[in-house]
Amino acid sequence: MKKVKIRKYLKPYWLFALISPLFMAGEVIVDLWQPKLMSTIVNTVVESNDISLVMSTILRTGLLMLGLVLIGGLMGLLCCYTASIASQGFGNDLRVDAFNKVMSLSLQQTDKFTTGSLVTRLTNDITSLQDLVMMILRMFVRAPIFMIGGLIMCMGLNVKFGTVVAVSLPFQLLIVLIMVFKAFPLFSVVQKRLDKVNAVVQENVTGARVVKAYTREDHEIDRFDESNMAYRNTNMKVLMLMSTLMPCLMIIMNLSILAIIYIGGLQVEAAAIKVGDVMAAVQYISQVLMSVMMVSMMFQQVARGKACADRVREVLEADPAIQNGTVTEGKEEGTVRFENVSFSYPEGQGNKVLDGVNLEAKKGEIIAIIGATGSGKSSLVSLIPRFYEAVEGNVYVDGVNVKDWDLHALRQKIGYVLQKSELFSGSVNENILWGKEDATQEEIEQAAMVAQADEFISSMPDGYESYVAEKGASLSGGQKQRVAISRAVLRHPEIIIFDDSTSALDLGTEAKLRSALHTHFADTTIIMIAQRVASVMHADKIAVIENGKITAFDDHENLMKTSETYRDIYSSQMKNNGGEE
Ligand SMILES: Nc1ncnc2c1ncn2[C@@H]1O[C@H](COP(=O)(O)OP(=O)(O)O)[C@@H](O)[C@H]1O
Ligand SMILES: [Mg+2]
Repeated sequence: MKKVKIRKYLKPYWLFALISPLFMAGEVIVDLWQPKLMSTIVNTVVESNDISLVMSTILRTGLLMLGLVLIGGLMGLLCCYTASIASQGFGNDLRVDAFNKVMSLSLQQTDKFTTGSLVTRLTNDITSLQDLVMMILRMFVRAPIFMIGGLIMCMGLNVKFGTVVAVSLPFQLLIVLIMVFKAFPLFSVVQKRLDKVNAVVQENVTGARVVKAYTREDHEIDRFDESNMAYRNTNMKVLMLMSTLMPCLMIIMNLSILAIIYIGGLQVEAAAIKVGDVMAAVQYISQVLMSVMMVSMMFQQVARGKACADRVREVLEADPAIQNGTVTEGKEEGTVRFENVSFSYPEGQGNKVLDGVNLEAKKGEIIAIIGATGSGKSSLVSLIPRFYEAVEGNVYVDGVNVKDWDLHALRQKIGYVLQKSELFSGSVNENILWGKEDATQEEIEQAAMVAQADEFISSMPDGYESYVAEKGASLSGGQKQRVAISRAVLRHPEIIIFDDSTSALDLGTEAKLRSALHTHFADTTIIMIAQRVASVMHADKIAVIENGKITAFDDHENLMKTSETYRDIYSSQMKNNGGEE
């Protein structure tokens, strides 16, 4: 497996990533100066009786402080600006790569990741990483400089103040460490729970119709509540941990300030230190201890970021399970052959979905596949464009093993109409153009004519420019199927696969489609899955599939004589349909 370093995505922006902390360092150094200047003013006011000296000191120091504030502000702005460029660029590049990777994954892998999790990884997780980069660029420098700088300034005022820091700092660090080790493991759990929430949302949004049709809303809401509660509870655990530790840090800080004031008071009495310096020391000590808190927040974010980074890396490192072959030209044309093919889904616990399948389609033949739902029809045809890999045996297209084919060349040969017509939001034209990007309007309409879609598309208000809503929600089932068929035939592929793609068409329209295919696609090999005998009886050969095995393979006449299953299907359907055809 190829190791991917998320860090490398910052490389193109190294200049920005480098100068951003420098600006931050500048801002901090300027800020560190402020309490010191303030103490000068206070000391002068307390000690001096010369009013004009006091006034001129206040004016001079005040202006200097103002100038420093402006410089510090400018530095801060530049730091933020450069850090944004670096972190947004980083996030953007990472997202692009992760998305491309997801596109290259086989269906086997997307099944395994689950859609919900992939969506979380590409959106939420990458955004968290992007935020982390921003924070690191700004805070990683700020906290330590504030801490060390504050210490130096504090000790410079009076060495005794050092003891206060020396006592309180270890306590604070201990608390931060507890936080880090307790909270660390929880973060990856939080992300997993979020996956679950997203998965439920996604299933219900995409399956909204089914949910409503079966009035399963209550059940689904319960399911959502359950995963949402689990997410909440884990998050609460993290937050509770944080919120018990934060006050501890505050207490230590306040005790330290008290100690400074006490020690400072004694020193002032002994005339060893000035009042203004004690004030400055209080400010420095709180800056130092605040920085420790900042560091603890940083650890928290880094821990969260690590969980996200691991998840994004998993996606980036996933080797496409299906290795691309090199063959771009077939030996024969338009043939499909299955030799002893067995298949099971990776998460199917070795359950054989296909078992010893042998099947052959010659150029220009129409091969039909009929069988009960769940018998393995869709799985069988999905092996032809190599969406999945056969576990045993081989599939040949144009006489070449699909494993040796260049995937693009292989899929280019095949027009595949899925069982569920997947349409995308956009115009009808755009949807059909998927089949062949550079097709002319004439070609599109010709394809729609063959698919029996031309008539209804033309009658829509905007014709071929009519808008199709997401997933084709604005079209009827039969209309969706016909747009999907147009898309497949537009390409004039060598092989067309119809996976139950005419189920929503009435028999008359289906017959017209069949005759149009016969006229315009006589040389094309057609593999069609159907549930209705009426849809398959005209095929050159019909495969009867039962529980993943092909139990008969012949034409209609012969099957009526030899296959009991086929006869059963035939007689039951003819009875129900009142013997049409
Ligand atoms: N992506 C998948 N992951 C795991 N099992 C699957 C997947 N798709 C289908 N199956 C299982 O494989 C079997 C055959 O399914 P399928 O080929 O879709 O049947 P058909 O198209 O004949 O209705 C069924 O038992 C189904 O549950
Ligand atoms: Mg199916």
